[in-house]
Amino acid sequence: MKTDETVRKAVFPAAGLGTRFLPATKASPKEMLPLVDKPLIQYGVEEALSSGIEEIVVITGRGKRAIEDHFDVSFELEHELRQKRKFKLLAEVERISGMVDFSYIRQRNALGLGHAILCAERAVNGDPFAVILSDDIIDSKVPATRQMMKVFKKYKDPVIAICEVDEASVSSYGIIDGVEVEEGVYQIRDLVEKPAPGAAPSNLAIIGRYILTPDIFDALRRTKPGKGGEIQLTDGLRDLMASRPLYAFKFKGTRYDAGDKLGFLKATVEYALRDKELGPAFREYLRGLKK
Ligand code: UTP
Repeated sequence: MKTDETVRKAVFPAAGLGTRFLPATKASPKEMLPLVDKPLIQYGVEEALSSGIEEIVVITGRGKRAIEDHFDVSFELEHELRQKRKFKLLAEVERISGMVDFSYIRQRNALGLGHAILCAERAVNGDPFAVILSDDIIDSKVPATRQMMKVFKKYKDPVIAICEVDEASVSSYGIIDGVEVEEGVYQIRDLVEKPAPGAAPSNLAIIGRYILTPDIFDALRRTKPGKGGEIQLTDGLRDLMASRPLYAFKFKGTRYDAGDKLGFLKATVEYALRDKELGPAFREYLRGLKK
């Protein structure tokens, strides 16, 4: 591995089918669902930028054009906003298109998260990189990706974000078995994908932030399709664990699973309540509902 442990690139896998949100996701990407007024993926991109990421690689698929358009310039819209002197909105729209360097890679078939990451190999070009799943929204003082970079810099091995989940939910996640080596940092002994309730080694669930090293690509190439014919990232990580340590990190912050309807609704309510303009009226409205 290279000696430079600075993470400058982030991969955003966004080629999944979003079946849990059908029919909303039939013709538009799940990543573009708005949390109040910003699409999910923009929260992830803003987290990446405030963590020091300089290059973003989005893995897209069919029906995902709206993601590219969102981060591109929109001459007509900008012209219209300028004409109508809506300068605040104009500044926001311009800010989005000027955010960072984006590149897009097409995953032709949704063959799993592991396969989506494999599609980024050339773009990653031998450097360590972050992976951000934009349906995990993380609200934290220090951006979660930045917290993970710090752990990576220290241990120089891949870092996987985890959070505690209740016993009833373990079977929806990849669960780690690990030894805590410092507060919040675990060296992983094993990874179990969606264990049956009662069979889980812990309640520490893998969520959508990773810092990976380029040797994950060989591991993923060796990985056989698992559940549903998909190449699972967890299986690739388990393969990698035979050749180097892997760490799990319990980041400080609150995570919302916006890829799930209930999680999405919770995030919407929380973000709307803390919105400066909307919050007070929305709170009033919710209070009224309780009566
Ligand atoms: P999910 O399983 O959470 O998302 O994949 P999904 O497949 O879009 O949604 P459901 O489960 O059908 O409702 C986790 C992440 O991996 C990406 C997804 O876009 C999401 O960000 N992914 C998944 C890919 O990029 N390619 C794939 O083949 C599968």
